[in-house]
Amino acid sequence: MKNIIVGQSGGPTAVINASLYGVAKAALESEKFNNVYGMLNGIEGFSNDRIMNLADISDEELEALRTTPGAYLGSCRYKLPEDLDDKFYPHIFKQFEKYDISSFLYIGGNDSMDTVSKLSKYAEKINSKICFIGIPKTIDNDLTLTDHTPGFGSAAKFAASIVKEIGRDTEVYDKNTVTIIEIMGRNAGWLTAATVLARQTKDDNPVLIYLPETNFDEEEFLKSLTENFKHKKQLIVCVSEGIHNDDGTFICEKTADMIIDNFGHKSMNGCAKYLENLVKERLGVKVRSVELNVSQRCAAEYLSETDVNEAEASGRFAVTAALAEKTGCMIACFRKDQDIYEAAYGTVDVNEVCNKEKCVPLYWITDNNTNISQEFINYALPLIQGSVDIPKKNGLPYFAYRK
Ligand code: F6P
Repeated sequence: MKNIIVGQSGGPTAVINASLYGVAKAALESEKFNNVYGMLNGIEGFSNDRIMNLADISDEELEALRTTPGAYLGSCRYKLPEDLDDKFYPHIFKQFEKYDISSFLYIGGNDSMDTVSKLSKYAEKINSKICFIGIPKTIDNDLTLTDHTPGFGSAAKFAASIVKEIGRDTEVYDKNTVTIIEIMGRNAGWLTAATVLARQTKDDNPVLIYLPETNFDEEEFLKSLTENFKHKKQLIVCVSEGIHNDDGTFICEKTADMIIDNFGHKSMNGCAKYLENLVKERLGVKVRSVELNVSQRCAAEYLSETDVNEAEASGRFAVTAALAEKTGCMIACFRKDQDIYEAAYGTVDVNEVCNKEKCVPLYWITDNNTNISQEFINYALPLIQGSVDIPKKNGLPYFAYRK
């Protein structure tokens, strides 16, 4: 019997720990591993011997993990060298040998799948038998070859709920106002699109929704607001953090210098603030901007039960795949049936997933790039269903917390 190790990588979601829970439970229950390890701060921490034994987590903490946001093990954004002859690879495989690892599970998005892909390629090169398996997560829902990604359902439920709540708030004064809500998703607008679910009637807010899949035109935007004011006083506009004009300049780039991470991604925030100033200046109405920011990926009270269950199931399925000695793959989720929603799991080639982004199909973006189609609503609604009871202490949520 050998050991299994699991890590978390990239931006967290509200259910990334539910996947960790699924891995821990399935691996411990299987009794097929001597030890079930967790990497602290992903591959970066593991390369420096930072690991923990998941059997040391108390039962109460382990149960709380299912509904704890953040990344319990800590995360990283660490890009492995492109060159498989780089000295990093012999080093990390020495680490695998040191801890007697037979299976490596990595919970993350497209950049983290790049790690799984490179490690499995190196393993093939040196004839190592270690299995490398990715477990999908991201609020961005932009992984290819899977119907959707754990983390998206809860973030979508949160974004749509908050937009609904802000909607009621904006209606209190009998005055023209604009509220611009900025939502995460650099190049893929799935989460911003989910704000369409907030509408209770056809003319309800949000009246305009802008995704990064299409170009954003400031003048057209101002015209659309003026048009909407003809029949509605309080307007909510939802924009993705990655909206850009037709030469590719991000709207948020107009306000601040951007930080670039190890994968070359620009940190994006501020487009709603920029638009707030633009609308104030040009239309002279009261404007507010709201950045949902990290709250959209860590809001436990808005967890989708479907999402939590699927995140856990993905983790459990990864252990099954490891026991079947699968490698170079990612767990994917499929719809069993087109009419009644039920998820099924399988494995897909991780090399086909890493560094790729699945965007919202352009034919789901309607009304001159300001609205979202019924097809999207049909796709997203099953993913936000059900809610979860969070353990409480002193009236507040109780979360698992690694000391
Ligand atoms: O992992 C996805 C994501 O949440 C994106 O939606 C967002 O743009 C990015 O992470 C932010 O990353 P970080 O927390 O590293 O700044």
